[in-house]
Amino acid sequence: MAVRIDGKALAAKVKSQVAAETAKLPRQPGLAVVLVGDDPASQVYVRGKEADCAECGIRSFPYRLPADTHQQELLALIEKLNADAAVDGILVQLPLPAPLEAEPVIEAIRPDKDVDCFHPYNVGRLNIGTPVFQPCTPAGVMEMLRESGISPAGKRCVVLGRSNIVGKPMAALLTQADGTVTLCHSRTPELTEITRQADILVSAVGKVNCVTADMVKDGAVVIDVAMNRNDAGKLCGDADFAAVEPKASYITPVPGGVGPMTRAMLMKNTTQAAAMQNGVAI
Ligand code: GUN
Repeated sequence: MAVRIDGKALAAKVKSQVAAETAKLPRQPGLAVVLVGDDPASQVYVRGKEADCAECGIRSFPYRLPADTHQQELLALIEKLNADAAVDGILVQLPLPAPLEAEPVIEAIRPDKDVDCFHPYNVGRLNIGTPVFQPCTPAGVMEMLRESGISPAGKRCVVLGRSNIVGKPMAALLTQADGTVTLCHSRTPELTEITRQADILVSAVGKVNCVTADMVKDGAVVIDVAMNRNDAGKLCGDADFAAVEPKASYITPVPGGVGPMTRAMLMKNTTQAAAMQNGVAI
């Protein structure tokens, strides 16, 4: 039976470390959290991020904009936040409601305030292996592995999902940690053949029960990044948890796994951004 990696407990530990770092800074770090529209899931995420800020001694600057906000208005807000010395980090909750385009917004954020690590400059640095920030969800996964004593070095790592937010940067971090990484996606043939080779399987697909027990090697580490709702409306990940747990050596539950870690790493990045902006090393 797998060991469950407790993301909630580990996130609390990371946040207490961040709070200690924050207290040492010459001024309080600030995070602008921009939410456009009224997507209920995004509202929950954003409220969670603001609560984390309070816990870590970070000032949050909430911006709630209507769904019919124009691209130019959003870009103007980003420019204002870029220039605001009290704002160290800028987070624009994705996805943006149509027809707003995320790419120009991400590119407008000053790279040294890009605590999501989505700006092409930061993505480039990440892929070169000299990251300024680490993208929150993949960094949270790496922290969970480290805390569990699992090194990707020399291991076969399979990532399911090629999103810019999770799959691609996850593959980059695992590669940097000397894993041998295969990035799979919706067009990958013979998927089960590939996943069965994984020592570390990271799933970020967003489909209930898409990771079944036959896809998992005995003793594999299964990291479930997804946040889905099943037919009964219950939160769940990609893995058929009851069937996969007995085969895995380690597994992350949903909820209480990767989700809280993503938020904790956002706090860490914000404090790092504030330290950089104050010319202080942490
Ligand atoms: N939407 C889903 N995950 C994320 C995230 O990590 N950052 C932002 N900005 N939006 C998201």
